[in-house]
Amino acid sequence: MDSFASRIDAIKAAHLYRKLRTLSTPQGREVVIDGQRVLLFSSNSYLGLNTNGHICREAIRAVEEFGVGSGGSRLVTGNMTPHMRLEAAVAEFKGSEAALAFTSGYTANVGVISSLCHKDTVIFSDALNHASIIDGCRLARGLTAVYAHNDMDDLLQRVRHLRPRQGFIVTDSVFSMDGDIARLPDLASIARTYGLTLVVDDAHATGVLGATGRGSLEHFGLSHDDVPVVTGTLSKAVPSEGGFVCGSSSLCDLIRNTARSFIFTTAPSPSTAATAAAGLEYIAAHPELVARLQGNVAYFVKKLGRIGMDVQGQSPIIPIMVGDEEKAAQAADALLALGVFAPCIRYPTVPKGMARLRLTVMAAHTREDLDYAAICLEKALAAV
Ligand SMILES: Cc1ncc(COP(=O)(O)O)c(C=O)c1O
Repeated sequence: MDSFASRIDAIKAAHLYRKLRTLSTPQGREVVIDGQRVLLFSSNSYLGLNTNGHICREAIRAVEEFGVGSGGSRLVTGNMTPHMRLEAAVAEFKGSEAALAFTSGYTANVGVISSLCHKDTVIFSDALNHASIIDGCRLARGLTAVYAHNDMDDLLQRVRHLRPRQGFIVTDSVFSMDGDIARLPDLASIARTYGLTLVVDDAHATGVLGATGRGSLEHFGLSHDDVPVVTGTLSKAVPSEGGFVCGSSSLCDLIRNTARSFIFTTAPSPSTAATAAAGLEYIAAHPELVARLQGNVAYFVKKLGRIGMDVQGQSPIIPIMVGDEEKAAQAADALLALGVFAPCIRYPTVPKGMARLRLTVMAAHTREDLDYAAICLEKALAAV
């Protein structure tokens, strides 16, 4: 047996083997996955906009006008009018002076963190931050002080101990596997007191948090002075691909000139950029969609509470803790057999022994969908 196969065997023995499933329908409340029609409870398409007629027409129009592929990096020949429209739309939606678009949320975080931070800076990073933040910290090659999840006392202790001349606090706003929300007002206050720069990843908050879906700053009533660097993705509530950073013009100018994951990669295709811009404009014009999502989350959490599950509903991400990796995989299979798709999340995405089902609520779900998912969840968990 070659070493590739023996490594795979070890992954299987630890119940950590992952395989790809295939969807043969668009993202929506109901999909066909590996030939089976199921309710989808794992999509990050929180507002259910992937088949929205207006946004799809904008995508087609962009292909007709600009063709496919951007042909180069933004700084060489790849910068096209849809990219400029997208950056204006991000800045408008997020209420910032400027914005800069990337090919993904991952490359945005890696590029922003590694270009702002260097070997003489200290990064204070939440223990549950997304992998793209962790990788950005690694590339920055300075000191990264990881503080306990959402624990302000632990953060303060580390800040007072290290007293950096230049430092950053970096956090997800909505934590991707736990669904809880960072204590941004406290983080902003600590950053202000100790002269640190707060960097917030709004990947799961954009289109989701705040009365009009503008994200975590709207949710908490904070400004871009409190949070000078906001990153995010255009692949979740916004139904496209790509990432962004927003803040001051000088911030965006600096990152445009220094972020390797911006400079050394081909620009997003013009239709992807136009789709994301249309998505942002659509969400801004339809705050009732955001309200519907938030209403669905509240309904689902209440429903789960009634059947004895202790879940918090700070965001559409609802983790159902199982612990054991094998049991979590079995619970996900049982749930799928009942017609609800929500995969189990295991190490290394979450720590060992903290495997879980991760359900996500969409604005597109009906109340019947939510009732059915709750019943199936109860049955699936009872079966393992
Ligand atoms: C918190 C967080 N940040 C960044 C990303 C990366 O975004 P993208 O998928 O656009 O690369 C994700 C997930 O995909 C995420 O959950």
